[in-house]
Amino acid sequence: MNVELIDKKIADILADYEIIFIVDKNLSHRFVDDLGEFDFYSYKGDGVLNLPSKRRIYVGIKNLDLNSLRLASATAFNAIKELNIKSVKIASYSGDCVKMSFEAIVEGFLLASYKFNKYKSEKKENKIEKILISTEDYNSKKIALDEAQIGIDHAHIIAEATNFTRDIVNEIPEIYTPQKMAEDAKNLSLSYANIECAIHDENYLKSQNMNAFLAVNKASIHPPRLIHLKYTPKQSIKRVVFVGKGLTYDSGGLSLKPADYMLTMKSDKSGAAAAMGIIMGAAKMELPFEIHAVLGATENMIGGNAYKPDDVLITRSGVSVEVKNTDAEGRLVLADCLDWAQSELDPELLIDMATLTGACVVGLGEYTSGVMGNSYELQSEFKNYASRSGEYLTVLEFNDHLKELIKSDIADISNISSSRYGGAITAGIFLDKFIKDEYKDRWLHLDIAGPAYVNKAWGYNPAGASGAGVRACLYYLQKLARNHQKGQN
Ligand code: BES
Ligand code: ZN
Ligand code: ZN
Repeated sequence: MNVELIDKKIADILADYEIIFIVDKNLSHRFVDDLGEFDFYSYKGDGVLNLPSKRRIYVGIKNLDLNSLRLASATAFNAIKELNIKSVKIASYSGDCVKMSFEAIVEGFLLASYKFNKYKSEKKENKIEKILISTEDYNSKKIALDEAQIGIDHAHIIAEATNFTRDIVNEIPEIYTPQKMAEDAKNLSLSYANIECAIHDENYLKSQNMNAFLAVNKASIHPPRLIHLKYTPKQSIKRVVFVGKGLTYDSGGLSLKPADYMLTMKSDKSGAAAAMGIIMGAAKMELPFEIHAVLGATENMIGGNAYKPDDVLITRSGVSVEVKNTDAEGRLVLADCLDWAQSELDPELLIDMATLTGACVVGLGEYTSGVMGNSYELQSEFKNYASRSGEYLTVLEFNDHLKELIKSDIADISNISSSRYGGAITAGIFLDKFIKDEYKDRWLHLDIAGPAYVNKAWGYNPAGASGAGVRACLYYLQKLARNHQKGQN
């Protein structure tokens, strides 16, 4: 599906259907011209009135905030996607910033149009081929064509990156092994001249003493891969390193998950998949950062060769870890990957992304990611900038009482907490043990366990993988780049 900007009045654009937003209950606006006496707000249509005979759909929207726009265009798209129409038109609804408003509206359309239908014998493809946006504005603003076009272009890039991540996460575990992830990363580097890829196998992991990562892999028939992608811009403001949890399947290992909890664990590779999407998006947008993605790819399986509760692992950093539960495997893989990322890449900003804990989902709900780290400034800056993407983020603070809970009698630390409470934060504190002093304030941990996989479709997210983390991080980086540019002018 394509979205085009048309420099004509909305009435002069030919299309099979029209979308009209009713903003802040303003039924007397010139765009809302044929509702007559119809009481839109008593009508039980959840803010949507679809009139196929008039080839129009009205969608109520509170205000022109970015997320309201994004959700409204997704709602409109979802309501008309089954109709036999090829083209749709909509006026311009721009809030404070034209570029960002266009970006948000177009993201809503493109993200909502995503489908994973590879395994359906009858593939229902989207019928809508193009969406035409008029430059005629709701507030009669003069729309700067170049700004609007940049917004539309960015939305296409962000949606492509998000949908690339969604495809990886939705792929089944039989197909999507660590080797397949390595192949996808390699292909990404072959498609973009400014992306490089290095793939490290089990022998390399052994030579690097990445024993925690290797332990998680032990009972899998698929060898592990440490995947390193690098995007080089023309000019770099900062070296940013993303580390992603890439559990292509998490059965729980010998501390086996119950059947209901194991289902959807193909999505335990969401952190790594998001890091790949970010590299792709950043390269396409030509963001001024040197960006690395370090992906720890393995399965967590059962078998005679499995690592066991009671084992003690000596990690790459030298810290010893008592394994009390083999289902707390993500932090073991990340411990070694984070240590590798620091010593090999010397990051100026280090962000790990992981579907790390069920506790984060219990605490924050299925829509919100947890943001952790040691720098209050960095965490709140990330939350503020990244929230503009529409992703929900909450900062979770570490404290010394929770730190006590991962002490071990036999090793330096235990891989699980001694308490049933505070599991998202104790997992974050576990990772902090592997962050060296000089990187403490430059590190963020994002627990995306809640939003990464959507059980029931909402807004612009169909059921299945959401691509959580991709938009949040790309918006954050875009804002950092803009701030830098402003500072220079
Ligand atoms: N991959 C899971 C976390 C998860 C749970 C992600 C639900 C998405 C949805 C992780 O490896 C795990 O199993 N964590 C355990 C940790 C526990 C054993 C301390 C958990 O959260 O139950
Ligand atoms: Zn697990
Ligand atoms: Zn896991």
